[in-house]
Amino acid sequence: MDRELKGKVAIVTGASRGIGKALASTCASLGANVAIAARQEGPLKETADEISKKYKVEVLPVPCDVTKLEDLQNLVNKTKEKFGKIDILINNAGVSSQYPFHEQPIEDFERLSHTNYLGYVRLIRLVINDMMKQKSGAIINMVSGSTLCDPLPRNFLVYSSLKVGLRAFLKGLFWEIRDYGIKVTSLLPGVTDTDLTGKLKEISQDSSRLMTTEAIENAVKFALTVPANVCPLEIAIINQQTPWTAPVIPFKQQHPGK
Ligand SMILES: NC(=O)c1ccc[n+]([C@@H]2O[C@H](COP(=O)([O-])OP(=O)(O)OC[C@H]3O[C@@H](n4cnc5c(N)ncnc54)[C@H](OP(=O)(O)O)[C@@H]3O)[C@@H](O)[C@H]2O)c1
Repeated sequence: MDRELKGKVAIVTGASRGIGKALASTCASLGANVAIAARQEGPLKETADEISKKYKVEVLPVPCDVTKLEDLQNLVNKTKEKFGKIDILINNAGVSSQYPFHEQPIEDFERLSHTNYLGYVRLIRLVINDMMKQKSGAIINMVSGSTLCDPLPRNFLVYSSLKVGLRAFLKGLFWEIRDYGIKVTSLLPGVTDTDLTGKLKEISQDSSRLMTTEAIENAVKFALTVPANVCPLEIAIINQQTPWTAPVIPFKQQHPGK
């Protein structure tokens, strides 16, 4: 087996299932020890046991709600106590909320921004000084293929605009810290078959449009194994028949003239 990350330590958020679980497995398969985070302790522990048994690395489950600053600090502290350092951060925890804007529950805005934007930026802030001292590090972030659409996909305005902001932040961050040897990568996946899209009923009905996590795992493997003087800044992995361009998300409003 390829163990190119042997001796490295990774944190993966939102790693109890879906894309995060797949990426924690990717890091482990390459030999890294991994701290995995999610809110529900049971599934997180099961995932940790499964990955550590399969790949013979240490996997530390840390219950963590990324919307809470104290939980993020605890995640960093626990990882450093156990493994001594952090080489790789995979910011992945995210939630979805699909509504025409005027019908979207107003409470969702805070949850979305604290999970899908602030959670990422805060966790990076908590690891960045150590990475700067090490003069190395990789920060990989699950953004979204929806950020490539202009205008943004209907019914995804708040979710997608937060991801647009995140993408802009990450690109700027790379230029700001690149002299410290730190790589910053944004992944822009298309619609992927996970619990998150399971809730997007209209898309899932046409299951041939959904990707598995395999291509995203390969992209992360690529990002983590390129030569030290290369940074894959953005990687878009889009469905061959992307739902956004041929809208399959029904919207009640009729366009004028139709
Ligand atoms: N699936 C797609 O089509 C797609 C496309 C583009 C981008 N993305 C992005 O990819 C990321 C992962 O999505 P996914 O499809 O794998 O979702 P998923 O299957 O629903 O998994 C989400 C993971 O995040 C955790 N999580 C949710 N809220 C959290 C919080 N506040 N604190 C800590 N952990 C939390 C969940 O565990 P708990 O519930 O136990 O906390 C779970 O482990 C998200 O950022 C999403 O926006 C997904």
